[in-house]
Amino acid sequence: MTQICEVEPQNPSIEIIRRAARIIRMGGLVAFPTETVYGLGADAMNATAVRKIFAVKERPLDNPLIVHVADEGSIKKLAANIPDEAKILIEKFFPGPITIVLEKKPVVPDVTTANLPTVALRMPNNKVALSLIEESGTPIAAPSANKAGRPSPTKAQHVLEDFKGEVDLILDGGPTTFGLESTVVDLTVNPPQLLRPGAVTLEMLNDAIGQVQVHPSVKLEMSSEDLAKSPGMKYRHYAPRAELVVVTGRDEDVAKKIREMINMFRSKGLRVGVASTTGMEYSADYVEKLGRTKLEIASRLYDGLRRFDEAEVDIIIAEGVDECGLGLAIMNRLKKASDYRVVRA
Ligand code: TXA
Ligand code: MG
Repeated sequence: MTQICEVEPQNPSIEIIRRAARIIRMGGLVAFPTETVYGLGADAMNATAVRKIFAVKERPLDNPLIVHVADEGSIKKLAANIPDEAKILIEKFFPGPITIVLEKKPVVPDVTTANLPTVALRMPNNKVALSLIEESGTPIAAPSANKAGRPSPTKAQHVLEDFKGEVDLILDGGPTTFGLESTVVDLTVNPPQLLRPGAVTLEMLNDAIGQVQVHPSVKLEMSSEDLAKSPGMKYRHYAPRAELVVVTGRDEDVAKKIREMINMFRSKGLRVGVASTTGMEYSADYVEKLGRTKLEIASRLYDGLRRFDEAEVDIIIAEGVDECGLGLAIMNRLKKASDYRVVRA
């Protein structure tokens, strides 16, 4: 049975938080809101509880989890040889939408970090999350609360869609603020490396600790010369989510290209959806306006992607954004959702 409890985001009921904390201490699973996306939490120090996360999420055991803490003291208990860059980032951005990778201490179970010698640490800027960690009296390991491969959850309803009956309790603290997962920076290498872009942007990191290297996977894309073939791929799977293609370039060129693509796909009898970031008009079967500012687009992206499932389109064409600031994180998620298929208009 999965219980859902609504909590006030700014002032969560202590009774409900204590009930959730008891579940964590007993080795159960609690989904909770953060400022980025909802997390699927378990006691990070309890290997059996952590294994449950991997099982219900259907996540490969070689993909490590982020350990969430509520105070700086916990960071010292979990990580060794904390470099100056870490101290600066903690001072500047904790609590906030950033995760730092540090050398791990042996107390952290190997299953939590997928046998890596490092541990990813994050202090979420959300009262529900922080009070849950405090009341549990233990750090909480939490991946995004979605089945592996699905868009991350930005509402409690999304968690329920993916995990009904599989988690003990969902704390519903309303929609999340940023809507994209935290920035992940590896501080065990020199120079530090950005592994996943998020709301703490590359520019903010460079300002704080000097040149940060961007991991090659962050900007990965595939040229799709042969885009016309890609809709056919959907027949290879039994029940696929719609294919996604990202189109980048100047707004007018993007709009022109997308209109051509809509006509081309519809002439093949496909239902076409457009994820719009410019407010441009399209005569597609379904158009999801994600907003005009990067903050809006980021916060609505995953909910928007889930809506295309309901609209039962065969293909989604997304307008890209520039890769400055929060744009790097938005484009990274769009590219991942598209299997890295980017068309330059
Ligand atoms: O915003 C977020 O970070 C959310 C909320 C719930 O806090 N959590 C989240 O977790 O996105 P997850 O598991 O979906 O993504 C964690 C990412 C993965 O890409 C994982 O490979 C990476 O962080 N990661 C975790 N531990 C790591 C480590 N020791 N070294 C390198 N990467 C690590
Ligand atoms: Mg995730």
